[in-house]
Amino acid sequence: MLAPDTRLNTRLILGVESSCDETGVALVALPAEAGPGAATASPARPRLLAHALHSQIDMHQAYGGVVPELASRDHIRRVVPLTRQVLAEAGCAMSDVDVVAYTRGPGLAGALLVGAGVACALATSLGRPMLGVHHLEGHLLSPFLSADPPEFPFVALLVSGGHTQLMRVDGVGRYELLGETVDDAAGEAFDKSAKLMGLPYPGGPHLARLAQGGRDGAFELPRPMLRSGNLDFSFAGLKTAVRTHLVRLGWLDRPEALADPAHQAVLADLAASTQAAIVEVLVKKSLAALKATGLRRVVVAGGVGANRLLREQLDGACARRGIRVHYPELHLCTDNGAMIALAAAMRLQTGQARLTHEAVFDVQPRWDLAAI
Ligand code: KG4
Ligand code: ZN
Repeated sequence: MLAPDTRLNTRLILGVESSCDETGVALVALPAEAGPGAATASPARPRLLAHALHSQIDMHQAYGGVVPELASRDHIRRVVPLTRQVLAEAGCAMSDVDVVAYTRGPGLAGALLVGAGVACALATSLGRPMLGVHHLEGHLLSPFLSADPPEFPFVALLVSGGHTQLMRVDGVGRYELLGETVDDAAGEAFDKSAKLMGLPYPGGPHLARLAQGGRDGAFELPRPMLRSGNLDFSFAGLKTAVRTHLVRLGWLDRPEALADPAHQAVLADLAASTQAAIVEVLVKKSLAALKATGLRRVVVAGGVGANRLLREQLDGACARRGIRVHYPELHLCTDNGAMIALAAAMRLQTGQARLTHEAVFDVQPRWDLAAI
């Protein structure tokens, strides 16, 4: 139980994330004195009290990718124990929760329905409202939980397994799409290239690790749409180029060749070249977005935001131009419940939360962030 005086001045928001292969639950405290106000003001910040995460990576690894039905079933197993864990860590009772937030989309329909169903049941049993949150808004606002939060307005580079977007963000709920991928997302480019190289799912972090020992100029790879004159991306051609190199080496679809210790230096070169191509496009397009908008601040969010080379290159390029770069804490880059509870808190804070008491819910597997 929270101390009574703390309780009086705070609203507690429980956040549930279940859009893909991570079950995340978190509790965020929203200072009550920061009532509805301007979306661009900087009122007292929501505070993360506790969060817990279960990753299904081990379960899906055997299949080389997420199996939606298995994902849904595992979310069912995890979500209540994780909720209990979070409440215990925060020293709160279920009845202390004021709002139950959940990821409404985008994501896997069955997986989303688990989080939405549990959130709806909890909220209804407590007589509290619930709130469906856009997953990408969670990613986009997640740097507000870091020690060095951004200020509005900023350019956001959203780079996850399913999305690659550049947005202009003028405040909570004020999102303008500047450009996005026309085919694969940056995370997909990492994951699909890594799979071709025989690396486990999800390939991004594995490819980044292998790339550490490689030379980034060893293989010629395209920088798709670098000179397209707009802020869109395309990564499908890059994966095809990686495939072509592996065909030339005679290693495509040959696990024993890909695992051969004598081939690891060449594979490290290919990984380094792939990573360099993806990162160069992301950095240059982000700089172009900053130039086009005239903004001096950029936020990087989503799983690929954990990539070290991306951070180094973007930090270096922005430092030279006097531009500030903000990231979520490293452990909040990939999917988590904290960003969902935070996005709900920031919507409440700015008077933009569509709370509902009805014991009905829906999910939106496909959902455009700029349209919310
Ligand atoms: O945001 P996220 O957890 O899930 C989605 O909403 O998609 O992002 C997952 C993606 C995966 O494609 C994963 O390979 C990639 O983020 N990723 C990385 C790194 N860590 C995660 N990609 C490159 N380097 C990393 N260190
Ligand atoms: Zn995500």
